[in-house]
Amino acid sequence: PLVYLNGSMTPLSEAHIPVLDRGFIFGDGVYEVVPIYGRKLFRSEHHLARLFRSLAKISIPNPHDKQQWLALIQGVIDAHPAADQMVYIHVTRGVAKRGHAFPKEPLTPTVFIMTNPLVLPSAALRASGVPCVAMEDQRWLHCEIKSISLLGNVLAAQNAAEHGVVEAIQFRDGWLTEASSSNVWIVKHGKLMAPPKNNLILEGIRYQLIEELCAGGGIPFEARRIAREEVFAADEVLLSSATKEVLPVVSIDGKTIGNGAPGPIYKQLYEAYQAAKA
Ligand code: PDD
Repeated sequence: PLVYLNGSMTPLSEAHIPVLDRGFIFGDGVYEVVPIYGRKLFRSEHHLARLFRSLAKISIPNPHDKQQWLALIQGVIDAHPAADQMVYIHVTRGVAKRGHAFPKEPLTPTVFIMTNPLVLPSAALRASGVPCVAMEDQRWLHCEIKSISLLGNVLAAQNAAEHGVVEAIQFRDGWLTEASSSNVWIVKHGKLMAPPKNNLILEGIRYQLIEELCAGGGIPFEARRIAREEVFAADEVLLSSATKEVLPVVSIDGKTIGNGAPGPIYKQLYEAYQAAKA
């Protein structure tokens, strides 16, 4: 499979960036992960809009318009044999002499696009649901930017891995934020709830999708602050992301959620999600 780097398609092993790239030195860049089903981008408009928002938030000039982005991404997809893929798009401020503030001279942003087969949770995992751990959110206060500076998320994911679970569900001062690389939802008395879209979470592309699926399926939804105790007392807890779609959580820190099995709202949303892919 070929990757795209700064204007050309090249084998991954030959894709190199200069060590002074500000992405390498400072984590000064943003990224996107887009699922591809049957060789087609899923919710591409939303993913590109979020990429453009992330770039604007950190004042990296967008190097391409929408049509150019779609053509570049399609080129990478076409060079891969898998029907279902996950495309990774990465833009940094570019290469410059090391110095924290933006360099005065205009830079050329580094653009990297690669794809891999989309590996979704197995049927067995969906049937059993997944265990998680809870932890304090130790990240910065601009989680709405899809930044490549992911140290907080990396440490949270490692915490989950060391506990042998799928995700770390994070709380800031007792309030639910999100997991290391997914959004978190709770269900109580048939109503779905998620933390509001603000600077404390990344607004997943699945956030709006699930809102739409709720509206279409008669599931009441409310975005509001969710206390830690409400998560543990929920009837259902769900995760959502490009690579998890929607996934049921059955325990947190070894404490059973609901009746310890995937619940009806999960099942309805999972079916609706599959229908939306077609
Ligand atoms: N992660 N919150 C965080 C911190 C994330 O990293 C992600 C996605 C999400 C869900 O967003 P979406 O529905 O757009 O996938 C929420 C991607 C998959 C990743 O970093 O690989």
